[in-house]
Amino acid sequence: MKVILAPNQAAGDQAAFQVFKQVVDHGAHVLGLATGSTPEGLYRLLRESPLDFSQMISVNLDEYVGIDPDNPQSYHYFMKQHLFNAKPFAHSYLPDGLAADPDAEVKRYDQVVVDNPVDLQLLGIGRDGHIGFNEPGSPFDGGTHRVKLTDSTIEANARFFSSKDEVPREAYTMGIGTILKSREILLMAYGDKKADAIQKMVEGPLTTAVAASALQKADNVVVIVDPAAAAKLRPTSISERL
Ligand code: PGA
Repeated sequence: MKVILAPNQAAGDQAAFQVFKQVVDHGAHVLGLATGSTPEGLYRLLRESPLDFSQMISVNLDEYVGIDPDNPQSYHYFMKQHLFNAKPFAHSYLPDGLAADPDAEVKRYDQVVVDNPVDLQLLGIGRDGHIGFNEPGSPFDGGTHRVKLTDSTIEANARFFSSKDEVPREAYTMGIGTILKSREILLMAYGDKKADAIQKMVEGPLTTAVAASALQKADNVVVIVDPAAAAKLRPTSISERL
């Protein structure tokens, strides 16, 4: 795991943009994308760049269950606003939050990911160490599944809704096993609320109690953090300082 410490979020976003640019310039075909506050700056840089995704595929990590793609809280909507409207892909896949048959939706999306192996997977990290919506206890070899969100995640995501009660309780997510199959993984984390999760992911034991610790098993992971998110890391855990 290569941990890059950026002096601030803007520098981290620039570094993440360079990772994206490199894989796209080297002929990547499938980008694995993430939602949340963390990648917003990266998406702005991608929107403003000359990069062209029109021959590429995107595959998103997750979507809330029971939410319409046109609902502004949906991850479909987020992706359109932050990237797809400005930079369309040939095809963009996300789980369908309104699928009538959840089991069939899980199978469908799992097949999407098998059919479209991810060249670069972008990740954020939850305060509880989740990646995608793989909450603590998720198996490291799991595929796409339907999850119940933890209280910590519901609370963290309540800021996007008018009240905590409106946050969906369930989501579809790619599994950790699927994420680990990506050719490259880029995880970004900013702010002190991520410091514990980052410390456990990088230095803690490999344990399903911290989903992100599974990334210790992959040898193609780049982590970009700001000083606040890196605050609990030992200096020797940092591979590069920008
Ligand atoms: P955030 O979410 O980027 O909004 O902090 C990250 C995550 O929960 O994976």
